[in-house]
Amino acid sequence: MSLAAPVENTTWKDGPLSKRLLRAFTDESAGEPADRPPFWFLRQAGRYLPEYQRLRRGTPDFLSFCYTPELCIEAALQPLRRYRMDAAILFSDILIIPDALGRSVRFVEGQGPVLEPLRLGDEIPSLDAGRLDARLSPVYAAVSGLARAIPTETALIGFAGAPWTLALYMIEGQGGTGGERARAWAWREPDSFARLMSVLVDAVSHCLCRQIDHGAEVVQLFDSWAGLLPETQFRDLVIAPTAAIVTRLKAHAPGVPVIGFPRACGILYEEYARQTGVDAVGLDAGVPAEWAARVLKPGCTLQGNLDNLLAVAGGAALEAETRRILRVLGPNRFIFNLGHGVLPDTPPEHIERIAELVRTASP
Ligand code: CP3
Repeated sequence: MSLAAPVENTTWKDGPLSKRLLRAFTDESAGEPADRPPFWFLRQAGRYLPEYQRLRRGTPDFLSFCYTPELCIEAALQPLRRYRMDAAILFSDILIIPDALGRSVRFVEGQGPVLEPLRLGDEIPSLDAGRLDARLSPVYAAVSGLARAIPTETALIGFAGAPWTLALYMIEGQGGTGGERARAWAWREPDSFARLMSVLVDAVSHCLCRQIDHGAEVVQLFDSWAGLLPETQFRDLVIAPTAAIVTRLKAHAPGVPVIGFPRACGILYEEYARQTGVDAVGLDAGVPAEWAARVLKPGCTLQGNLDNLLAVAGGAALEAETRRILRVLGPNRFIFNLGHGVLPDTPPEHIERIAELVRTASP
């Protein structure tokens, strides 16, 4: 069978919900209480694994790696073999969308992504949505190959960057700034910024629908830089575009859960959870678990939020915090995860220990 052939996605069409991750999106009163929550780790594949480093050495250019389905499938399977998470996540990057729209994107060793910064509203018409499918077809092939390769009890998560976070990278040319140039543009020229957001809403919705067609059973939107925005911009640039994407995804595949991750947005999580239509919210490590359980959980599933530095540090604090999060947020309508991605200097044994603690958690 060709790697690129779409996979018939039956999970959400006719159930039953044999996968633990998918059960976390159902109302607990409708089924048996969960014995333990499902778990996976943000950025669970990648440089902290020696087997990834070996695989990656063969393809020095990270974007070429992302456009080679066999390599993406292998990289996504590596952490599953070690830790048997309840979900695999597509191995790719959020910046493939700006790349596929025709912007120059490079990954510089030790520096992270570098893009040719978008400077003027006049450049927006040059973003070429017509190229998306041709450029992204290897990504969809990786999704269908991965759907076939993972164990039957493992769910497959597709993902994309959310429009604001993509716009930030496209305008700043890099992450790690305060997003000043992008935020100033949004205040100064709201019309051209809205045009950019509209192109990105279309591209992200399209890419996620294709991932679903190829076998993704859940999709996650990464809004890594949501926390930089004051409330008015948060509503316009995070909540509204996310709600528009969720509407499109639900029209295309009503049963596929959407996880939104508006990192570091503080109490605006509440508005995000209520108004975007997402099925779950990913919590960063700064969100108090008791608050989230009381205020957010009644309406949606929660995911998170162990500090990723505890996965680096290990020891008694790692054990205590993992247990605390399991107690406060689990076991129903909860997906155990980190509050942000696994860092490159994380000892793999610490991830193993967390997996063991979650797997043996009692309700
Ligand atoms: O298992 C997985 O989750 C891997 C798939 C994945 C990658 N990037 C691979 C990657 C996912 C889900 C992402 C998301 C991503 N990429 C985000 C959102 C999540 C977050 O961390 O906030 C963001 C902001 C990016 C952009 C990006 N890509 C940065 C900032 C960097 C450099 C810094 C870093 O963390 O490595 C990348 C490169 C990147 N993306 C690598 C990997 C495995 C390292 C590339 C390498 O092998 O050198």
